[in-house]
Amino acid sequence: MIIGVPKEIKQVENRVGLTESNVRQLVDSGHQVLVESGAGKGSLISDEDYESAGAQLVSSREQVYSQSEMIVKVKEPLQEEYDLLQENQILYTFLHLAPEPELTQALLKRKVKAVAYETIQEKDGSLPLLKPMSEVAGRLAAQIGAVYLQKDHGGKGILLGGVPGVFQGHTVIIGGGTVGVNSAFIAIGLGSKVTILDLNPARLEYVSHHYHGRVQTLYSNRENVEGAVRTADLLIGAVLLAGSKAPKLVTKEMIGSMSEGSVVVDVSVDQGGCIETTRPTSHEHPTFLYEGVIHYAVPNIPGIVARTSTYALTNVTFQYALNIANKGLETAVRESSVLARGLNIYKGKVTYEPVARDLGLEYEPFS
Ligand SMILES: NC(=O)c1ccc[n+]([C@@H]2O[C@H](COP(=O)([O-])OP(=O)(O)OC[C@H]3O[C@@H](n4cnc5c(N)ncnc54)[C@H](O)[C@@H]3O)[C@@H](O)[C@H]2O)c1
Repeated sequence: MIIGVPKEIKQVENRVGLTESNVRQLVDSGHQVLVESGAGKGSLISDEDYESAGAQLVSSREQVYSQSEMIVKVKEPLQEEYDLLQENQILYTFLHLAPEPELTQALLKRKVKAVAYETIQEKDGSLPLLKPMSEVAGRLAAQIGAVYLQKDHGGKGILLGGVPGVFQGHTVIIGGGTVGVNSAFIAIGLGSKVTILDLNPARLEYVSHHYHGRVQTLYSNRENVEGAVRTADLLIGAVLLAGSKAPKLVTKEMIGSMSEGSVVVDVSVDQGGCIETTRPTSHEHPTFLYEGVIHYAVPNIPGIVARTSTYALTNVTFQYALNIANKGLETAVRESSVLARGLNIYKGKVTYEPVARDLGLEYEPFS
């Protein structure tokens, strides 16, 4: 199969769909890989790295799209890429189609076969291709929060770890899933006092046992959220109700009870945010103030550590790419119900039910 890797064109998106080691494995398996020149630069993978792994470098994205049977990307195609997609071409990338009617129509019209990373789903309901980005975002949330607590970044001037004889800072994390425990991992490493709130008793038990009581766990109800937020120096929003908008668990009044120069990092902003005062920001302008509290709410946090994120992402995406290349999409999907959940669009039909339902389109299962 001919596999193409275009350079990402979304703002501050430095990740890339395949690493040099992925290219080598594909080439060793008898495939041809076309890489757009500069595609790996933001992840510190040079054209020479790709070339020595056996890729063929091409100078334009038009060439990548027109010559490849499968396109491997990170982010969804943007408008300027729609017309480059070819009929019957396999598109393997993050898509998030449910809130994107225009992109969905473009993929239907171009009759591509689109597999979305975010809907590839294990039998236990887990989403293995989403997890590494939650790990990255969770770890960064605590790191970024610690920096914004510094006076030179407008914060209240608290060192999360304190020093002997001085109070530690307090990190409060709402949601003890992948983002939550990874935020806790870094916050604990920095020496912070940490509280995690969750609704799921199994998560509270896991966190409590995993951190040997080093983290205060609390059942997530209004009183506990209110009390924890009031004493937080750093508040991290890490809630997810799969497929739905995040519930607004922290109200304006609760944010008003925080002391000036405290920091909010709402990681769940990509699902609308779990903090009432959240609105999406960008890497160019990552923060805003609400009643003196610094809010950081960037929806694509992992993009700023592209090198780490590219390797974390491809560690989980590549096995499916290789399988599709080796067997062809149809056989690979028939043989794996996990991969089959990822098939969102197939030759002009919506093959993923939640997307069809959310966009009011006809659902036609792949057969
Ligand atoms: N901004 C970014 O760059 C970025 C990157 C990765 C993930 N995310 C987002 O972060 C969010 C969390 O992702 P995750 O992978 O940790 O999800 P997850 O499913 O692993 O964890 C979510 C947790 O929220 C808990 N929860 C649900 N309702 C709750 C409530 N009322 N109170 C407290 N806890 C509650 C769940 O029990 C679960 O433990 C998602 O919205 C995800 O899309 C954002």
